[in-house]
Amino acid sequence: MKTLLAIGDWKDFDTFKKVYKQRKFFRGSNIQVKATNYWSVIDQKLPEIKTKEIIIFLCFPFEYWDKYIEPKKYKGIYGNKSFYTKFIKFWKEIDSKLKNFYKNNKITYINHPKNLATDRDKEMTKKKVAKAGVLIPKTYNTRKVKDILKLLENGRKLFIKVRYGSMGKGITYLEKGRWMTNFRFRNGKILSRKSDYGWTFINITNKTRFLSEILKKDIIIEDAIDPLLIKGRKFDLRMYVFKDKVLYTYGRSNDEKAVTTNISQGAIGEKLSFEKTLPKKQLEFAKQSAIKAIKALGLNFGGVDMMLCADKKKAEFIEINAFPGFPRVRRYNLSRYFIKDIIDNYGDNIAIRKATIDDFDELFKLRLMSKKEELKYSNTLKPITKSKHYYREYLQFDLTKPDRILFVAEDRNKIVGAILAKFFTPLRISRYHKEGKGHISNLFVDKEHRKKGVAENLVKSALEWLKSNKVPHVSLEIHMDNKAAIKLYDKMGFRHFTVKMVKEV
Ligand SMILES: Nc1ncnc2c1ncn2[C@@H]1O[C@H](COP(=O)(O)OP(=O)(O)O)[C@@H](O)[C@H]1O
Ligand SMILES: [Mg+2]
Repeated sequence: MKTLLAIGDWKDFDTFKKVYKQRKFFRGSNIQVKATNYWSVIDQKLPEIKTKEIIIFLCFPFEYWDKYIEPKKYKGIYGNKSFYTKFIKFWKEIDSKLKNFYKNNKITYINHPKNLATDRDKEMTKKKVAKAGVLIPKTYNTRKVKDILKLLENGRKLFIKVRYGSMGKGITYLEKGRWMTNFRFRNGKILSRKSDYGWTFINITNKTRFLSEILKKDIIIEDAIDPLLIKGRKFDLRMYVFKDKVLYTYGRSNDEKAVTTNISQGAIGEKLSFEKTLPKKQLEFAKQSAIKAIKALGLNFGGVDMMLCADKKKAEFIEINAFPGFPRVRRYNLSRYFIKDIIDNYGDNIAIRKATIDDFDELFKLRLMSKKEELKYSNTLKPITKSKHYYREYLQFDLTKPDRILFVAEDRNKIVGAILAKFFTPLRISRYHKEGKGHISNLFVDKEHRKKGVAENLVKSALEWLKSNKVPHVSLEIHMDNKAAIKLYDKMGFRHFTVKMVKEV
């Protein structure tokens, strides 16, 4: 068993609650689910977890953010560097507190906390994804009013965004004859809105005083992407990426004349079928870019915003969200697919196959482990240290002789169990002399992978192989004290047949 520990706030109506509420989709896997909040991490009042391995899913810390990073009484300009540095510090603390509390467990993060603030820095994010080969809008380093005016004069359309912003807040759009911002501007000062809402755009065309003020802030300046229009509307695509896969593409469209495609600014979330109306190759290009972008930031899961270009070929990167809100789309349950992929990637995923000589080293280790366990039942075996070379030789036979086969159970490239099946010709007086008899031995599954039906599947594979070799009868031997194995073979229809008796003489 493993534990998925989801950490978030109950105030987070979105990802955290959705995944936790849908934990029934973990049923049947070897992952149990627990949830806690960030205060419990900070105060070290976390739930005890008995499984060795803990997979940690970190959701957005709304309460902490609202209390310490962007409080209501926050006076500074929205999206400045303190947002970022405080956030980095927060994740460092969370990481060390989790590692301290669960020092006897093995922690695997879905997204490592050290990478969870990077996406908040739009400049660094763009650099990293561009380096990975993702197309980004051209960026300008100048902070001079006259350079900007010249760019506009030359027909450029520009976005100026606060470097550490999000949610469509603090955005300025400039084109010749049309300047828009959703900051407020009073008495020569740029002002932020008090809440997340109401960041509507106002017209500030040719207010160079505003321009000169915004250029003094920590900002990024980039070309506006010339967007592909669908039914006269512009749109961006939020691509939910998990590892190498785009789980879901959520289109958000707005009027062609609108500045952004943020839902908070009037865009609407498109239906599931929207994806089908898009040029296929271009969509695929965007998906591949999104996967690259996630990797470039060291994330396993995230939302990447891509915009398809008017050329019907390319797609450009807008931003990454390490905490993408899950879309509200009827009949599409993203958490369910997300959970399925968590199970595929972090749960047990055991497959049975025939062993080859390449498996020798791994199998040898496994065999020694199993013999060590057998010593518990048997006092007639030599200590392993004295018989290692024999075991080596036997395994060599088992992997090469044509009368036998080894099956292995593999959990994502790691061998976790094995069984040996062979056939032989019994004496001429046996009624099976002609067809031969089968024998099963060396069944072993490592401790961590027991009680999941692995042994049963190994036995089934062995029986199928014997059957395909037309062997009508199979036997095996087992120590009386090996109760678990006896139970399994009983269940599979093996009968107790002879009794082996021993005595010291
Ligand atoms: N270079 C660009 N070209 C076209 N549209 C853009 C560009 N940059 C931003 N936008 C629009 O503005 C929105 C907000 O920008 P974004 O970088 O996502 O900031 P935020 O983090 O505030 O959401 C985007 O969803 C998109 O609609
Ligand atoms: Mg955005």
